[in-house]
Amino acid sequence: MATFQTLPGFRDFYPEDLAKRTQIFRLWRQTAASFGFVEYDTPVLEPLDLYRAKSGDEIEGQLFSFTDKGGREVALRPEMTPSVCRLVGARANALKRPIKWFSIAEFYRYERMQKGRGRCFYQFNADVFGEPGPEAEIELIALLIQCMRAFGLTEKDFCVRLSDRDLWFHYLAALGQDEPRIRSVLGAVDKYERNGHDAFKGYEESFGPMAPGLKQGVLDFLGIRSFGALEKALESSGASAGMAGRLAQWRKLLGGLGAMGLSDFVQVDLGVVRGLAYYTGFVFEAYDRRGELRALAGGGRYDDLVGRLGGSELPAVGFAIGDMTLALLLDERGLSAAISQAPDVYCIVGGEPERKAAFADISRLRANGYRVDYPMKEMAFGKQFKAAADSGARIALIYGTDELARGVVKMRDLGGRTERDFPTSEVEAAVREFFEAR
Ligand code: HAM
Repeated sequence: MATFQTLPGFRDFYPEDLAKRTQIFRLWRQTAASFGFVEYDTPVLEPLDLYRAKSGDEIEGQLFSFTDKGGREVALRPEMTPSVCRLVGARANALKRPIKWFSIAEFYRYERMQKGRGRCFYQFNADVFGEPGPEAEIELIALLIQCMRAFGLTEKDFCVRLSDRDLWFHYLAALGQDEPRIRSVLGAVDKYERNGHDAFKGYEESFGPMAPGLKQGVLDFLGIRSFGALEKALESSGASAGMAGRLAQWRKLLGGLGAMGLSDFVQVDLGVVRGLAYYTGFVFEAYDRRGELRALAGGGRYDDLVGRLGGSELPAVGFAIGDMTLALLLDERGLSAAISQAPDVYCIVGGEPERKAAFADISRLRANGYRVDYPMKEMAFGKQFKAAADSGARIALIYGTDELARGVVKMRDLGGRTERDFPTSEVEAAVREFFEAR
């Protein structure tokens, strides 16, 4: 008989997998709320045009897209950024600024499959709209870091690599590059870590051999790993007013993150430029410190996108964390959640007549928020006691023929192994008292 499997890159979530996902979503949501971000959502299917020439060639080539029955060209969302720009752009004047929004949603990209990358994955997106200065980056990078620390990860486990696409533009312009050439060089820088010198092939195919001075300038700049080195490099290349302006922004950003006590999580790294086409300023990516996994998160400033999608001009910064690499890192560090399905109370039931009395209590206790379980079929007492112990419940309520004849229910503390009888009318109060005392 044919068996059906999930499509390549798609995942089933068995209860143990869903427990991990639920923990991840819970801590993301809790952390975002503690930073004053509010939650939104958007449709999973969008007009194809929303992504054409906005997300960049790489994502466009990975779209799950088709023509719907009404002849519309549509795509499953590969990312949240264009959608959230539409929402915010449409109400830009009515929303109180700064606008601090987050979402947890599923995305689809037809990617080559590899560890930590699938074709269907979740992201936590957080974005700040309406704030042109690095105060927005401070808030978002702090949120990104806290979204990882919430699981028990520390500065030894991950870091945020920080760079600046605007500064790269100024730097390459000073090396005589025009905009198409600058975009091509940045494409190469994005691929340099993975492909080495082959990354420059695309540039050379379009614009001819790279002058040795230009190539060396690019390699020197992408090798910068500290703010001191960045200042020095710009000084020696004769910093323009544009570059000096960017350095002032860097000082503010690094100063703010330092005051929040987060410097150990942040690594200046001009090798990061991001593959997405819309970033215009600071860009950042989070990685595991051992460098064994693909990126945990990525983001940056994109001041033009809201305007380009039809809304009014609105500065914006944001990032997204993916669930897959984070789950791998949490598994590696033993920080993943286990299933928590232990009931509070397990009822041990004699026969059919006793079941009626038990059912009345079970309903009442559940309605009051207690997790209550019982055997669905009649079972020997010995087996039921074992099931109660295996379930992880804190107390067992025993509905035996003998107990009910005396008008009581026996309550056993499964940890302390003590027992007491309560009149049937007092069972609910006895359970409440037990849990309130602990
Ligand atoms: P991104 O770098 O394409 O940025 O994705 C952010 C994160 O989503 C990645 O670091 C990774 O953890 C996860 N991710 C991306 N693709 C996959 C995949 N195929 N499988 C598993 N995980 C994946 C963005 O999407 C931007 N829209 C982020 C942003 C928000 N920028 C501004 N606001």
